[in-house]
Amino acid sequence: MATPAELLDIARTIATEAGELIARRRREGVVVADTKSSSIDVVTFADRECEEFVKNRLAELRPDDGFYGEEGNEFPGTSGLTWVVDPIDGTVNYLYGIPQFAVSIAVVQGEANPATWTQLAGVVFNPLVDELYFASQGDGAWLLHAGKLTELAVNKESVIELSLFATGFGYSSQVRAEQAHLLTNVLPVVRDIRRAGAASLDLCAVAAGRLDGYFERGTKPWDHAAGSLVAREAGALVGGLDGQAEGEAMIIATNPHLYPQIEKLLTVSGVITSS
Ligand code: IPD
Repeated sequence: MATPAELLDIARTIATEAGELIARRRREGVVVADTKSSSIDVVTFADRECEEFVKNRLAELRPDDGFYGEEGNEFPGTSGLTWVVDPIDGTVNYLYGIPQFAVSIAVVQGEANPATWTQLAGVVFNPLVDELYFASQGDGAWLLHAGKLTELAVNKESVIELSLFATGFGYSSQVRAEQAHLLTNVLPVVRDIRRAGAASLDLCAVAAGRLDGYFERGTKPWDHAAGSLVAREAGALVGGLDGQAEGEAMIIATNPHLYPQIEKLLTVSGVITSS
């Protein structure tokens, strides 16, 4: 059985190669291939090509593992491990040339279900700014940038009114209406809100202390499988509401002082009672 550190090495290698691929495709020009859940939920040819690339590299290096990717590749393995992959997190930023997108690759023990999985290793790589975030179980969270390695730690801020949070928005109008409702409770209280457009990078920004916290309703496992491990290993509490695991109903990542405060603001809206 491979150790989390060995799995991390594989994830780092593939994420770096995949990041170079999407950066190259970005320079050549981005082409929308199709739409998914709604007309604004686009998939580019690069999303598909990158997911195929990651899947094929894993087939070479980890042929017995399962796979769960955003662009539709999904199969169980025989090893008990599953790779959870977002080939381009921040696709809309990618489309517009905003340098806030990443390849996100995680490997978990179990299925791609945050309520039951054990996160072993995760990598989030933003190729345009050359930031590679990574973590493996019990080994801290790290950022590699321009050859320099930095250990990450979440901020210690404990006052919600002085806290900078990020959030994100999904692609369905119903989820967006719920997200807007949540914001009406949070925005008047906190220092400010950011919406940068890539959940994996938002989670890494919490780990790096560039944000005090992040919350979002409506994310999928591939959006947060890697980033939430990076945040956890940097000292964040990551979960949902009322003691639940993070998931589509809600993900919150922040330090243990701020967690109950943001949780209260989000609960008060009454939007979230179930998934
Ligand atoms: C999206 C981004 C966005 C978040 C959405 C995700 P995609 O992922 O992470 O920030 O708010 O919930 O769906 O579609 O760019 O891979």
